[in-house]
Amino acid sequence: MSESKILNELIEKYDDEQSLRPDKLDQFIGQNEVKEVLDVYLKAALGRNEVIDHTLLYGPPGLGKTTLAQIIANEMGTNIRVTSGPAIERSGDLAAILSTLEPGDVLFIDEIHRLPKVVEEVLYAAMEDFVIDIVLGRDSESRSIRIDLPPFTLVGATTRFGDLSGPLRDRFGVVFRLDYYEVKDLAEIVVRTSSVYQTEITEVAVNNLAKRSRGTPRIANRLFRRIRDFAQIIGDGVITTEICNLALDKLGINENGLDQKDLNYLEAIIKHFGGGPVGLDTIAAAISEEPGTIEDVYEPYLLQEGYIKRTARGRIATEKAYEELGIKYYKGIF
Ligand SMILES: Nc1ncnc2c1ncn2[C@@H]1O[C@H](COP(=O)(O)OP(=O)(O)OP(=O)(O)O)[C@@H](O)[C@H]1O
Ligand SMILES: [Mg+2]
Repeated sequence: MSESKILNELIEKYDDEQSLRPDKLDQFIGQNEVKEVLDVYLKAALGRNEVIDHTLLYGPPGLGKTTLAQIIANEMGTNIRVTSGPAIERSGDLAAILSTLEPGDVLFIDEIHRLPKVVEEVLYAAMEDFVIDIVLGRDSESRSIRIDLPPFTLVGATTRFGDLSGPLRDRFGVVFRLDYYEVKDLAEIVVRTSSVYQTEITEVAVNNLAKRSRGTPRIANRLFRRIRDFAQIIGDGVITTEICNLALDKLGINENGLDQKDLNYLEAIIKHFGGGPVGLDTIAAAISEEPGTIEDVYEPYLLQEGYIKRTARGRIATEKAYEELGIKYYKGIF
């Protein structure tokens, strides 16, 4: 693929995500517990004319962490600065970002579990006391200067809560876990997307798409765009129930919303490793996939839906996984 084509695709993805992103909390669909509590914190902070406490958002990809960070800034009427853990290599990089913050700004650090340790240490004082200590010079010549920062809110996002260090975790006053969406909420998101894209869709198609999106708004929106292409080319632009089902089949999404990669993963455990228990790295090698991707992207949903179990000795495929693949399950044989 040429460089400009890659760039165009990235821009398209970004624009699409941006245009589909709700700006205000009341347009954010689902996650009701998070929404209710966040609403209280936002109103209380606004009422006292203070910043909202540092907030940590965690959960599987595509559930709305970045969206919520933007909503927090919008609701507080402030600017958001966006960066990510791996982008901040040295403590100086962080100091440079922090020193440009305006009072009340939101600093959003995505993938915050990937912040280097030295950077994390600078962040502690910034979060706790709104100061940064910078060491100038070396050894006996060195001295440290302290820079005051304006009050700001750090919003951190991570798919891996467990990889965050204790001291960092403790400095967040607010911690929200995002869960997979219920089908009815995803259906509402699909309806909203159809109106943003001005594409008609039948009610049955809305529900089918919602059921087959792995509880994830980003997947629902991505599938929507692909189905819209089918509707445009083989139909008259309307997403009918038939076109929706046909497109989902062509995209390799089965009745229960599992895609080819999920099925490969389950098949590997069952066919190559007798249903488990088998270790993550072994499965990863068998299906040529990164262990991290398997752990962050595939497994959380398969676990929640009861296709697999995680034990101390490794992953086990459940009876439901055998059924999904149409393989007979012999209980207790292994
Ligand atoms: N509650 C919601 N209501 C409507 N749309 C949503 C909602 N949550 C997410 N979306 C849509 O899903 C897309 C993905 O959301 P977002 O980028 O915020 O996820 P994320 O959790 O930050 O993912 P990642 O972990 O990959 O960074 C957004 O473009 C947004 O349009
Ligand atoms: Mg994000």
